[in-house]
Amino acid sequence: MTAVKSICCIGAGYVGGPTCAVIAYKCHDIKVTIVDVNPARIAAWNSDKLPIYEPGLEDVVLARRGKNLFFSTNVDGAIQEADLIFVSVNTPTKKSGMGAGRAADLAYVESATRRIAQVATSSKIVVEKSTVPCRTAQSMRTILEANSTDKIHFDILSNPEFLAEGTAIDDLLKPDRVLIGALQTPEGIRAQQALADVYGHWVAKESILTTNLWSSELSKLAANAMLAQRISSVNALSAICEATGADVDEVAYACGRDSRLGSKFLKASVGFGGSCFQKDILNLVYLSEQLNLPEVAAYWHQVVIMNEYQKKRFVRNIIKTLFNTITNKKIAVLGFAFKKDTGDTRESAAITLIKDFIQESARVAIYDPKVDRQQIVMDLSEPGVVDTQQQVEKHVQICSSAYEAAKDADAVVLVTEWDEFRDDQLDYAKIYDGMHKPAFLFDGRLLVNAPKLRKMGFKVNVIGKTELAGKA
Ligand code: NAI
Repeated sequence: MTAVKSICCIGAGYVGGPTCAVIAYKCHDIKVTIVDVNPARIAAWNSDKLPIYEPGLEDVVLARRGKNLFFSTNVDGAIQEADLIFVSVNTPTKKSGMGAGRAADLAYVESATRRIAQVATSSKIVVEKSTVPCRTAQSMRTILEANSTDKIHFDILSNPEFLAEGTAIDDLLKPDRVLIGALQTPEGIRAQQALADVYGHWVAKESILTTNLWSSELSKLAANAMLAQRISSVNALSAICEATGADVDEVAYACGRDSRLGSKFLKASVGFGGSCFQKDILNLVYLSEQLNLPEVAAYWHQVVIMNEYQKKRFVRNIIKTLFNTITNKKIAVLGFAFKKDTGDTRESAAITLIKDFIQESARVAIYDPKVDRQQIVMDLSEPGVVDTQQQVEKHVQICSSAYEAAKDADAVVLVTEWDEFRDDQLDYAKIYDGMHKPAFLFDGRLLVNAPKLRKMGFKVNVIGKTELAGKA
């Protein structure tokens, strides 16, 4: 295999876009074409307003767009031109049929693979970038091999992506590791080396890990399951803290100082969101069930159950504190994205919380610096229900600042940890002045200095802490 000169990425989403833009940024000798079946998404990538918000992304795209980085809807043309193709399409949880609610829906992966098989006119390295169940590469190989000839050969690699939204560009420029799995055949190992050489333009050799295909596929599910497990573990402890007077920040700090545990990912919160954690754990649960390992499935499933419990517990606490009813009360929700520094709302805890508030007939005012009105209304609407958007708009007010959302509110609820909601950035005295009294504040992200805000007059409620913490 000679060096890769032309790369095609199928899927211009949160992963395909940033990942391949960084490859173009670091490898000027490689032509990178990112394609998608969604013309609006491609148009946005070619415009001044990129379809996703990610710190540093714009600089990377603007530096290489039109030079060696292209965004196109011409999927077939880009496949034909490429030596190496990333399949970076969505793999959501199946909504119906066998494995509904757990298994990954591989329809998009299959359709992209079939397209490659149909239109390729030369040999290709096909790289599984999407997160997929262990042994998906086998199905892709079956499709590709059925179409290979003496002249056209397909190699398949697994190269899962470990970037986190909000820090994607940093993660891609300085990855902890790049993982490349291949069949341990001479051709497989050659293809593995060709992709390693692409990353080798900017990633140190010792950070590029090569494994067999199945280890690589499973490692991605395993990493996400373990990360989510840490959050569910600390959230489970937050419930104990609230009941005992222990302070979850202190407990997390004390645990995190143990070098075997490490300090990252120990922040208690209203629960994890995002498109990956829940989907990938459920995927692992399904895989375990399929392998007839029910205890293993139950073990990992508990991570998701704990996450749902944490969201419900937070809502119950709010209702209880507001004198057991929130009917007609105004609740200001600060933050809608699933975490800071992204506009992504997929599986955001905010959606569950707000739907519960609406169910209790509260009036909800929402502000998020990066999520637009249309996205919020769509996320809160129930698919298939008539007039659902009008129903949502009746209960929900979408605001252009935290101050507007908090005006005349009975409670402010901090849901996303945006820096601008910190107590050294937001004028909480102004927020307090505009609110109904007693002015309640619920911190679902351990973001504010509660004693300071209590001094201003707020009744502050923080996940994993009680006002009496530290007192006898
Ligand atoms: P996304 O939904 O943002 O993007 C996927 C894109 O693929 C969409 O724009 C869709 O139109 C396009 N697409 C689907 N089928 C296609 C086809 N046959 N031909 C051309 N385009 C097609 O999804 P996202 O978030 O980028 O995720 C992609 C994969 O990466 C998933 O498997 C996900 O689990 C994984 N992943 C996601 C991470 C994240 O933080 N979002 C991190 C690491 C992995």
